[in-house]
Amino acid sequence: MCGIVGMIGNRNAVPVLVEGLKRLEYRGYDSAGVAVMGADGVEIRRSVGRLTQLERVLASSPVSAPLGIGHTRWATHGEASERNSHPHSGGQGRVAMVHNGIIENYAEIKSDLREQGAEFTSDTDTEVLAQLVASKTESGEFADGLREALREARGAYAIGLLARDQPDTLYAARLGSPLIVGRGPEGTYIASDVPAILPQVTDVIYLQDGEVARITREGVDIWDLEGRPVAPDWQQVELEETAVDSAGFETFMLKEIHEQTRVLGGLLDRYVNGLEVTLPDLNLDEETIRNLDRMMIVSCGTAYYAAMYGRLLIENFTTIAVETDLGSEYRYRNPRIDDNTLLATVSQSGETADTLASVKMAKEAGCPILAICNVFGSSLVREADHLIYTHAGPEIGVASTKAFTAQLTAFVFLALHLAEVRGELTFEKKAELLVALQKIPLSIHKVLESKDRIREVAEKHHDGPSSLYLGRRFNYPIALEGALKNKEISYQHAEGYAAGEMKHGPIALINEYLPVICICTDTEDEVAEKMISNVREVQARSGRIIAIASEGDTRLHEITEDILFVPKTRECLSPLVNVVALQLLAYYAAQARGTDIDKPRNLAKSVTVE
Ligand code: AGP
Repeated sequence: MCGIVGMIGNRNAVPVLVEGLKRLEYRGYDSAGVAVMGADGVEIRRSVGRLTQLERVLASSPVSAPLGIGHTRWATHGEASERNSHPHSGGQGRVAMVHNGIIENYAEIKSDLREQGAEFTSDTDTEVLAQLVASKTESGEFADGLREALREARGAYAIGLLARDQPDTLYAARLGSPLIVGRGPEGTYIASDVPAILPQVTDVIYLQDGEVARITREGVDIWDLEGRPVAPDWQQVELEETAVDSAGFETFMLKEIHEQTRVLGGLLDRYVNGLEVTLPDLNLDEETIRNLDRMMIVSCGTAYYAAMYGRLLIENFTTIAVETDLGSEYRYRNPRIDDNTLLATVSQSGETADTLASVKMAKEAGCPILAICNVFGSSLVREADHLIYTHAGPEIGVASTKAFTAQLTAFVFLALHLAEVRGELTFEKKAELLVALQKIPLSIHKVLESKDRIREVAEKHHDGPSSLYLGRRFNYPIALEGALKNKEISYQHAEGYAAGEMKHGPIALINEYLPVICICTDTEDEVAEKMISNVREVQARSGRIIAIASEGDTRLHEITEDILFVPKTRECLSPLVNVVALQLLAYYAAQARGTDIDKPRNLAKSVTVE
């Protein structure tokens, strides 16, 4: 996912732009650049690779100006190269643009512009958009031409733009890709998200889809694409600077793993009062809840595993039929949905393209949309009719941790709320679960305290070519999530599997070289015994067993020496605790393998392109 920053102020913008881009590194990128309004027009500096490369270019060929834009590019159209890096210019350098998103009709626009004599130096859709803007703004009011160009473009964009004949103006626009305007004592800014410019601003505007902004030192004008004025909606910045620094931890991911105690405690304080669960942004009336017979939960990646957990919970507590699907699959199905199906989505960023596309399809079918999301003002939040915010704070590490456990917790609240309104949960059972839930933050803290033991096990088993994660019922999604964490940060292949399915194939993989992580915290019923049987099947084939077990459980000692004990809790809540052990297991495996844990190769924090 690309990153955008921009500034118009009374000081050299370049250091602010570079610092802002550094704060956007977590989004993933492969090149970077800045453009400033110099004395002789727009000046561009770009480089492939990390921001340190761009800083070298700036050191050898400095630029300085109080108006500029910056960009980190995650390649979509055209390989990672200097010529494909942003900013791109149009009209022989008359405009310079940075862009996040995809212009779907760029090929036909490019062909038309070529016929008009335009020349192109890159493979990108962004250069096409820059050339289109240049062609529409050769005469007349610049903002009119800009809006005309944006009306012709189809797809998604967040753009920052400079124009040579507008030396004291910064333009911005968004459609389907987030962009904010911020103001502070030294200037006015644009950015892909608040953390990028947090030190500079006191309040922000979350641009809405189809809005175009003209920013000068005198103020901000906003229009819709048809040119109708829009009143700027300034909102005070609520984030603390501490939310976006690593606070002494070696990585953001480790910080965020440790934040889970506080995040879950905060969610309990916010949404639970005694034995009452209150979800202020849900806005689902009781009649609708009582009549609800179907739910569809759609999301991607780690958020999909949260959806799988949510389904089990809701089906466990209510009589609602719940189905889950991956956003990238659901959007191409022909599902049976109607206004009596609630489409729920889970998304940390609220910007995942496949999730948003699924929401759009469901809305067209008349479905009410529920979003469990972590980012205020995100595209998904604006599309949703019903909301549960996860309040996990900015998640900078690309691999999701605190946002995931916050999503799981949100599903616990939702399932309890739905069941209570439908009269399908006794007071006693609700009370029992809420009392157990209140203990979860402390249980997570205890897992964090056992990190040296977890590191020891990770370092013993990290060097194989692959690993297998097994779980059942509520912990099957956690086996999948544990495997994903291991894949995405340690680059060791890992596969999550339903333990009951092992005999249908994967058991052929078991040998003395394959670490098999078995989630065995369930001790309550026949399923628990079946899980132990699966572990014994692995043992009988000399598999290298790592067991996640409840404190006091002695069943595993005769099976393996590598047991990671976690505090005992209700089976349906155990994922909230077990996943923390798996996050740390993956973390220390990645550390042993020397990977870039906060910014794993090829990954972006939010997949805003398909
Ligand atoms: C999580 O570790 C991954 N980085 C990724 O799977 C992520 O969960 C997925 O892209 C969905 O993102 P979202 O929650 O922002 O929609």
